[in-house]
Parts: sequence; structure tokens; C-alpha cells
Amino acid sequence: MSVVSDAYDPSGPSGHLPSFAEEAYDPLMPIETHPLTTHIGARMTGIDARQPLTAAEVAAIDDGMNRYAVLVLPGQAISDQQQLAFTRNFGPLEEGANSTVRSSELRLDPAFADVSNLDKEGHKLARDNKRRMAALGNRLWHSDASFRAVPAKYSILSGRIVTTDGGNTEFADMRAAYDALDAATKAEIEDLVCEHSLIYSRGQLGFAEFLPDERVAMKPVRHRLVRTHPGSGRKSLFLSAHIGAILGWPQPEAMAFIRDLAEHATQPEFVYSHRWTQHDLVIWDNRATMHRVRRFDDLSIVRDMRRTTTRSDGPTVAQEAA
Ligand code: OGA
Ligand code: MN
Repeated sequence: MSVVSDAYDPSGPSGHLPSFAEEAYDPLMPIETHPLTTHIGARMTGIDARQPLTAAEVAAIDDGMNRYAVLVLPGQAISDQQQLAFTRNFGPLEEGANSTVRSSELRLDPAFADVSNLDKEGHKLARDNKRRMAALGNRLWHSDASFRAVPAKYSILSGRIVTTDGGNTEFADMRAAYDALDAATKAEIEDLVCEHSLIYSRGQLGFAEFLPDERVAMKPVRHRLVRTHPGSGRKSLFLSAHIGAILGWPQPEAMAFIRDLAEHATQPEFVYSHRWTQHDLVIWDNRATMHRVRRFDDLSIVRDMRRTTTRSDGPTVAQEAA
């Protein structure tokens, strides 16, 4: 059974948000979905992500994702193994997010993207730590793994230790942003292809030094700027901080235009800002959204967030294999 309240009701389902952390799950509890803004994001209850999912539960999550692009599942005190099993319901794992970190240095199973500010011993990363530097890229609006020829589908982020003084994660609806463009702009961008690379996103923050083998690993990939979502049939803007060029355009003109589009697409009306509660499990569709994390005092506060990710079906544009 699935209960969906169609319209966004700013007062919430009953005017307050219940606390789920202490409650036992009732397997017969209906799945309920409550929109969080007019365009993007919904809160979904009635699923226990620690347990194997039924086909109906997987379908309810996919339906919710197709519609809202971001789902918040509160009260999911999940282990790493349970998070991996939950993630596999939604496609093959996208691995290697920490590939620049030596495996002996990893805190988590390599299938995870460790977006915490902790090292293997559980100490906060030092100010000049290389992993911390790379993670600062998450403060720029982006779509996960858009620098790969087969980019990410769902990202599933578990809030193990959360911050409320900063550290919100914001999501922008690239479908609503596309829909709001005027007809001339839609026609102009329809067949444009962009280059994405970690070299470009890191370059925006002033990283210029890459080892030769890093440069090879970060070779730009191409993606359509306008993509059609297989689940909803909706078109969206495929924007990301990893973009550094539009094929056939002078680079400064391309980047000025990409900035205009990103500014348009991240206006407050298209954005849901998530303030974390411990054990929230937040799922977003990288094919339909951009996201970023907001600044917090990561040198003094611990934030332990663990991401698993699934791969999308294939490249958005024909290109030579990497
Ligand atoms: C990510 C990411 C945001 C956050 O996990 O892909 O961008 O809030 N994280 O940590
Ligand atoms: Mn990300």
C-alpha cells in the first residue's frame, strides 16, 4: 500500500515531524510520501532500509524518485553492510569515489564514498589534508560522478553523525529549471555537449597541481547538456561543477553561459535544503538534480556521512572508451 499526498503542504503531514528514532517498524505500516517543496524532495516513511526490500518497496522508492528526485527516509539506523544491500536494489554500485586515497588509508569499505571529515583512526582531518581539500569540491553545485562517461544514478547518503550548525545539503531540481527556460534557450542548448572533469571542478577552487597519472585518470568526458530521464520522461539540465567546456564554443563564452544556467537552476524556488537529523537516509537522483554541502566548522565538529552510489544505464553521448 502506498499513500501519496499530492500537493506540497508547508505545514507538513500533521503540522509537526514525528520522531522515528525510538520506534520499532511495523511491516504492515503503509508507505507514505509527503512533498517537501513545490518541485523537489519528499519525505518517505514506512520503509525499513535495514531489511531486504520487497519488489513493491523498491517500486515505491523508484516511483518517488521519478517524481520528487530526492527522498528523505528518516530513522534509518543502518549498518554499512545494510546500506550496501539497500543500494544494490537500485542498480550496479558506482565504486572508486575514493580512488585517489591509498586503500590502506580508507576508513570505510571502498564501495563507499567517505564524505566525513574523519581519517582512518577517527580523527578529524587536518586543515591541509589532501582528502579534505578534495572534499571541499562538494561545496560547489555538482552531480556525482559526472566526470565519468557513465555517471551516477542514485546517491544514498546516511547521516551517522550529523551537524545542524551548517552542513545542510542542498538539492536543486534540474527538471524544473529546464522547464522554466524560454523556448529560444531550450532550442539553443538542445544538442550541446559539455566536457566534465575533476580537473575543472578542482581548478575552480585553485587546485592546479595534478600528478601525471591523476591527469590521465581525470581525462574529460562528454555529456549532453540536456538529457531525458528514463523514469519520468522529463528533460533536465545536466549541469555540474565538473563542466569546463562546451564542444565547439570558445571556453570563456562556454563557462560564462554555464554559470548563467547554473545561477538560473539554483534559484531558491528550485531548491530543497536538507537539515540533517541523525539516521536520515537521503537518496537523490544525479540524473535530475545538482547538490552541494554548506560550510560548517569541520576542524572542530565531527560529521560522519557515508555515501553509496549506483551507476546510470550508460553514457549520455557517444564517446571513446576511457
Ligand atoms: C556527496 C556530497 C554532500 C554532503 O556525498 O556526494 O556531495 O552533504 N555530499 O556531505
Ligand atoms: Mn556529491
